Amino acid sequence: MAPLTPPILDGHSPAVIAQTCQTYNLTPSEFAQLRDRAVAAKATSYSPYSKFKVGAVLLSNGKVDDAVTGERTTTAPEQTYTPGANVENASYPVTTCAERVAFGRAITEGHRGFKAVAVATDISPPASPCGMCRQFIREFCELSMPILMFDKDENFSVLRLEDLLPLSFGPDQMGIEGSA
Ligand code: THU
Repeated sequence: MAPLTPPILDGHSPAVIAQTCQTYNLTPSEFAQLRDRAVAAKATSYSPYSKFKVGAVLLSNGKVDDAVTGERTTTAPEQTYTPGANVENASYPVTTCAERVAFGRAITEGHRGFKAVAVATDISPPASPCGMCRQFIREFCELSMPILMFDKDENFSVLRLEDLLPLSFGPDQMGIEGSA
């Protein structure tokens, strides 16, 4: 079981990045892309009410199912990153979190299978996905998939989905193979 409060790691240290990549099966380039694209996605937030900007980016495994033909293709490497940001509403509960915006986009673009999720906010310690988003992510990802959480200084904590959402309920319990 992961510690309740994960350590905050240096998001620009090559040694820390190398260690993280080894643990979570990422390349240093993928790590840097996840970090930089999550931070960039944060700037696209529509959050006039909370003024709390959240960026998310998903790294998919590159396999895409065509919506019309169902044919599976492989995308160019840069298309394996799908960004999202929180989109608020004057009717507050209608707001959609960054993670769900990104997953909605990726899934409807045909992406199936994700290697990592990154989230960026302007606070420290870094924010972690809300409960609803954890469940949303659970639908599409392996329990071992890492979720990188970047703070205002681009330092980060990282946990696996199974640590953020233990004893989770997912497609398998409903007799569906799932798309993870
Ligand atoms: N928010 C996210 O985008 N992701 C989360 O996981 C937590 C919360 C957004 C929703 C709202 O626009 C703002 O942050 C404050 O709750």
